[in-house]
Amino acid sequence: MRAIVQKEFGGPEVMELAEVERPELLAGEVLVRVRAAGVNPVDTIVRSGVYPLLGQPPFTVGWDVSGVVEEAAPGARYRVGEEVYGMPFFPRAAGAYAEYVASPSRQLARKPATLDHAQAAALPLAALTAWQGLVDMAGVAEGQRVLIHRAAGGVGHLAVQIAKARGAYVIALASEPKHAYLKEIGADEVIDYRTTDYTEAVADVDIVLDSSSENTRSLKVLKPGGVLVSIMEFGDQELAAAIEAAGRRFVGIAVEPDYAALEAIAALVDEGRIRPHVAEAFPLAEAGRAHELVGSGTVQGKVVLTVD
Ligand SMILES: NC(=O)c1ccc[n+]([C@@H]2O[C@H](COP(=O)([O-])OP(=O)(O)OC[C@H]3O[C@@H](n4cnc5c(N)ncnc54)[C@H](OP(=O)(O)O)[C@@H]3O)[C@@H](O)[C@H]2O)c1
Repeated sequence: MRAIVQKEFGGPEVMELAEVERPELLAGEVLVRVRAAGVNPVDTIVRSGVYPLLGQPPFTVGWDVSGVVEEAAPGARYRVGEEVYGMPFFPRAAGAYAEYVASPSRQLARKPATLDHAQAAALPLAALTAWQGLVDMAGVAEGQRVLIHRAAGGVGHLAVQIAKARGAYVIALASEPKHAYLKEIGADEVIDYRTTDYTEAVADVDIVLDSSSENTRSLKVLKPGGVLVSIMEFGDQELAAAIEAAGRRFVGIAVEPDYAALEAIAALVDEGRIRPHVAEAFPLAEAGRAHELVGSGTVQGKVVLTVD
């Protein structure tokens, strides 16, 4: 099969299209014919070696996939021909920038029926991060005030919509050119973090989703008992202790596969309450260009690779 392989750490140019063996299935797994693979910031720092999750190259990066079940091992949850999406094995290797990916069947869910594969591949890692933080751990509820950092980014634009779908009042931080889009997807208040100090402009927040390493500043806007969900410093014990000492709750999220959450997300998508935004789709062979764009840190929504 075709896959993007790198033999060394480095810039986007180290990724090359190559012929490799198809993965072999173990019991309970499915082989997915990938139609699209999502690109996340973590892919770029694994590729470069800044965050060497997969050890030394050679390897194939990527986790988010949407595709069609090509083979199903005994005990698998899906049948050949079903359309599925997910983020298998994260943070271990999945090799998603490829024609085929093997996955434990319960790390995938049925693809939202109202999305094409490129849109569905934009969801898993970013939507699961938002879901596991806001819903699973912080229990976001009707009427709560939620502040989302990097609100127009991959995680942020889905977090805004998930919080809205749960009935929250959403305050979104983003640069001004992205404000109209954020209002369209339901943000109640939009603040340009470049020109306005949100710690002065906002108060009495129940939950902050922090993807900007603003933790101690974010703390200032949280009401007593409020929750700081950190997806950057998720393992920082000192930070956790400082937040708890201030009478707020600290939640560190390291996203993981979760088919129940993927099913809940797919249901909200098919009800028209969440819509992933695909900023750009590149063919698999142009994974390097996709990494350049994601590495720029300016993307609104998501970047995906399509696999013919
Ligand atoms: N712990 C976990 O499990 C987990 C899971 C997913 C992601 N993450 C991490 O969370 C971060 C966000 O991920 P993502 O996929 O949402 O990223 P992303 O899509 O690349 O974020 C892009 C957005 O970031 C905004 N931005 C750029 N520079 C900024 C700055 N200095 N301050 C505030 N906003 C800025 C830009 O919007 P503006 O024009 O508004 O600046 C852009 O729309 C990444 O570092 C990622 O690795 C962690």
